[in-house]
Amino acid sequence: MIRLEGVGKSYRAGDAEVRALQGVALTVDEGDFVAIMGPSGSGKSTMMNILGCLDVPTEGQYLLDGVDVSGMTDDELADIRNRKIGLVFQSYNLLPRTTALANVELPLLYGKQRARRTRALRALEEVGLVNRATHLPNQLSGGQQQRVAIARALVTRPTMILADEPTGNLDSEASREIAEMLGRLSDAGRTVVLITHEEEIAAHARRVVRLRDGRIVSDVRNDGTGTAPVENDTAENVTREIPLFEERAEAGA
Ligand SMILES: Nc1ncnc2c1ncn2[C@@H]1O[C@H](COP(=O)(O)OP(=O)(O)O)[C@@H](O)[C@H]1O
Ligand SMILES: [Mg+2]
Repeated sequence: MIRLEGVGKSYRAGDAEVRALQGVALTVDEGDFVAIMGPSGSGKSTMMNILGCLDVPTEGQYLLDGVDVSGMTDDELADIRNRKIGLVFQSYNLLPRTTALANVELPLLYGKQRARRTRALRALEEVGLVNRATHLPNQLSGGQQQRVAIARALVTRPTMILADEPTGNLDSEASREIAEMLGRLSDAGRTVVLITHEEEIAAHARRVVRLRDGRIVSDVRNDGTGTAPVENDTAENVTREIPLFEERAEAGA
């Protein structure tokens, strides 16, 4: 359902041009759980912005459910986001003096008040926080706040959840809970794309795609069935990127 073909993204910074992504080809099937990893500056957020229809590529095509979104206007992109995509960020971006429930209701612009409330409560139930519905963000732990943010992403019933470093502000226990929750969402049929620089978090995904300098340098499934085709890099780099089979077995992957 996600298909990037020859995707590039350049930014102008004064006279210089920064190539944040180049020649990226990626296909993600519906219901898959993909982690995107890479060092700082490797293009992870740029990729998330494109996948999440927050920005368009400067080269190549992005097909989402067969529709080319790469040439769409801002309004058209906003419509796709509302219908198909749930976004989660490192900072939870909850409104501070607003209950968990009201935060989750926010993306539901239309519909009757009661229907919105019911859907928001269901989304909170899905993240195990229905008993915190009337709490304010500052009455919740970081992990709970991120779960509210996930509920807010789920409430529009998106087919795809995109999370950019969602565990970046959390301790390891809360991080693991968030990663497990994303795994359950994928088990329930949603496509999940998780950006992280933590190996333990990426290990929850079914597939790990690694970026370096704006290119995909490896693409490995976590079930030990070996490597997907790797493009765009030398054998030497790829060998360094792909963990040996034994190492992955030791890590419990
Ligand atoms: N709006 C922008 N303007 C100019 N350069 C940008 C912009 N956004 C990102 N970049 C550059 O693009 C590259 C990739 O950035 P980013 O996608 O944020 O990487 P990551 O999320 O992996 O840290 C970096 O060199 C960054 O400085
Ligand atoms: Mg980033």
